Amino acid sequence: AQNVVKFTAGPDTIVINKHIYGHFAEHLGRCIYDGLYVGEDNKTLANTDGVRNDVIAALKNLHIPNLRWPGGCFADTYHWKDGIGPKDKRPSIVNTWWGGVTENNSFGTHDFLNLCERLGAEPYLAGNVGSGEVQELADWVQYVNFDGKSPMSDLRRTNGREKPWKVKFWGVGNEAWGCGGNMTPDYYADVYRRYATFMADNGVGLFRIASGANSADYNWTETLMKKIPHGLIQGIALHHYAVINWGKKGSSTMYTDEEYFKTMQSAWFMNELVEKHAAIMDKYDPEKKIALVVDEWGGWYDVEPGTNPGFLYQQNTMRDAVLAGMTLNIFNNHADRVRMANLAQTVNVLQAVILTEGDKMLMTPTYHVLEMYKIHQDAKLIPIQLTSNDLTFGQEKIPAVSAAASITTNGKTHVSLVNIDPKKEQKITIDLADKRYGTVHGRLLTSKKLRDFNSFEKPAYIKPREFNEAQLKGNQLSLNLPPFSVVVLTLE
Ligand code: AHR
Repeated sequence: AQNVVKFTAGPDTIVINKHIYGHFAEHLGRCIYDGLYVGEDNKTLANTDGVRNDVIAALKNLHIPNLRWPGGCFADTYHWKDGIGPKDKRPSIVNTWWGGVTENNSFGTHDFLNLCERLGAEPYLAGNVGSGEVQELADWVQYVNFDGKSPMSDLRRTNGREKPWKVKFWGVGNEAWGCGGNMTPDYYADVYRRYATFMADNGVGLFRIASGANSADYNWTETLMKKIPHGLIQGIALHHYAVINWGKKGSSTMYTDEEYFKTMQSAWFMNELVEKHAAIMDKYDPEKKIALVVDEWGGWYDVEPGTNPGFLYQQNTMRDAVLAGMTLNIFNNHADRVRMANLAQTVNVLQAVILTEGDKMLMTPTYHVLEMYKIHQDAKLIPIQLTSNDLTFGQEKIPAVSAAASITTNGKTHVSLVNIDPKKEQKITIDLADKRYGTVHGRLLTSKKLRDFNSFEKPAYIKPREFNEAQLKGNQLSLNLPPFSVVVLTLE
């Protein structure tokens, strides 16, 4: 059977916010230390203020729109004043969430915000609500955002930064239902109100994001929508990982057909999550002023080669690339409510876009998907209807094909397509409705085997290549999507 993507005459006012393509860097494993930051004194690795130049260049090439930091669970243990001032005077603490390792605070607020400036990315700071104080978060906001004279802005100047960074995105805690304090939604809603009240705007236009639901905890979202005055909140978070085999560490059975299906099913569940959380938000906020912010997503596995479960390092394969492509298509198609998202995590942790080993660095298959999809950033969504074949396992099924379409301000149309079927190619027809184009060209990401990956020996084994096999006839476009592949087409 054929898969059909049909452009529809829906509203042409929805913009795919570039912040859907955001990232997340936590003090966890080798994400910050060794991954991003190698220290100013490092003479063997080219760096700018201690941050690896190769990583900076790779992230810039993604047009990384925002970067969330310092956690994750780490955020609710983090006291930002530990990470400012002369590095040799900063206290060493214990990173209690992530292995009990020593955290010497050499990468702190200035290091992070200067890095964001260099990347051209907006910083997204996650405040400590779980073990912190209201005053502590209010002070952090003043330290980074206040232009005039004040105790915190003076301290910033003493530490070498005259102008404020004007940070817009702020998380008010993280996973308050779990590592952020094991709170009930009612209790957290009250705590949120207090914290948000004392975060001064200073003309920045703060975008305050409440710690959101764990996957399908719809009651959490509903409680926050009901209890928090809407003037105090700009976004509600949602965390969902495609998790497989937790607790089955060391299993060598990984990737049976069933395990692959379950992984993709768990990733596809994001579609239902987004729709149900958005429907609850619609009840209380029909004008969609408050954004759904999926600030942690991706695959979380235990048993890939190279995995160190304590530090969440995992190999990233073609499987992860199709997972990313499908998830980003979900976000694009729900861009009216999902206006920010953050892949977990940028370097060396979970579904990383970059892996490092000593002086070596590679871009993972997931990196290439984000690079291919950057054409959707801030483009106008073209609503589509999709009829897809199924990927089945026993009685269960999910769509094999996913897609999203957008049009840029200079009139180029882009269609991203993913086939998650590990065995069958998919024939696709795209009905362009009343739109007419002269040319089509594209890029394809696939490999020989589903679990192929880029290694430090062969870092460019998987990379996008040109795809010129789509046929354009009138308002019909047809193509075949190879098994486990991602394609982005450009129509002009
Ligand atoms: O991304 C790893 C962890 O997953 C984060 O610290 C936490 O927020 C989530 O549970």
